[in-house]
Amino acid sequence: MTTGLHPLGGGGLRRPAVGWYSVPHRVPTSGGPPGLGAGYPAARPRRLRRTPALRRLVAETRLSVDDLVAPLFVADGLDDPRPVPSMPGVVQHTVESLVIESKRLGSLGVPGIILFGLPRPEDKDATGSAALRPDGITQRALAAVREAVGDSVVVMADCCLDEFTDHGHCGVVDQATGEVDNDATVDLYARLALTLADAGAQVIAPSGMMDGQVAAIRGALDAAGNGQTAILAYAAKYASALYGPFRDAAEVTIAEGGDRKGYQQDFRNRREALVEVALDVAEGADMVMVKPALAYLDVIADVHAAVEVPVAAYHVSGEYAMVKAAAANGWIDGPGVALEQLTAVKRAGADFILTYFAGEVAEVLGG
Ligand code: PBG
Repeated sequence: MTTGLHPLGGGGLRRPAVGWYSVPHRVPTSGGPPGLGAGYPAARPRRLRRTPALRRLVAETRLSVDDLVAPLFVADGLDDPRPVPSMPGVVQHTVESLVIESKRLGSLGVPGIILFGLPRPEDKDATGSAALRPDGITQRALAAVREAVGDSVVVMADCCLDEFTDHGHCGVVDQATGEVDNDATVDLYARLALTLADAGAQVIAPSGMMDGQVAAIRGALDAAGNGQTAILAYAAKYASALYGPFRDAAEVTIAEGGDRKGYQQDFRNRREALVEVALDVAEGADMVMVKPALAYLDVIADVHAAVEVPVAAYHVSGEYAMVKAAAANGWIDGPGVALEQLTAVKRAGADFILTYFAGEVAEVLGG
């Protein structure tokens, strides 16, 4: 102890009004923060951080197993599950291993899975026709998983064509313009959605960012008597470099070094997400999604404020791979960072999160 003089000036000196304490119209004349009466030294926010139980009691955000949806890949023509090198812990499943993993996730308490079917390379063509076969890989996988888990896990299906097209775009390419033909693609999505629902998908998740895709799918489902099949719209999906590892996992290469900037959103735009989300809700989306997650927390918060339907966020392959790679190098505590990131996504306003960490996090959090 020294003379009792505080290093900043000693006991008699008042703390200068700085930062938000000093915003004049919000500050009571006592100088304390709103709602707390006097300021420091009486106000001590650290009181509520002292013990784990105190922190647990006052936590504003709670991440639980109930918030998680696991994306799963199933590939045609595989004898054994095949690891995805850029996504440690993620595999391309066979139908058999997919069923086992779905049951395992269900027993951990994970409430949802979303399936991505991958054709044999030789089955890819210009229109992604293998995607629509009633006995295609996604449809067979959906049927097998539904048979195994029934209603105990929500079984969702990604509704897109990029895994099945030989050029890697999410729809049909107009030969004259080189652009993805919106309306021709939407017609295919509607037909694809019917095969997915018939195979057992309880939620259809269109991810192609075509205009009008939700309305077309809702109309087709209703006309076919699938009025109970829900739609999770990838409503605000940005053209992101964070999808790289997914394209490894799904073996998708966009022809001629192309990209999806002509249909997915520009990451410089924030308000545009609200246009996309409003359209999808008006078209009949039961739930909307923001994707990716961490670089778009502002968008998640905006969407949460703007709509009443559940809001999902997709913590994508690149976000997963970065955590795994840094953890493998011993540079970060992988599980700690995963929990922090997923909690932040929830804090921003997501009601649930699609994440490749679902199984691992479920093991940590308990069912
Ligand atoms: C398109 C689709 C993609 C992802 C989900 N659905 C890739 C893309 O838009 O290029 C990416 C998911 C991820 O990166 O984890 N079918």
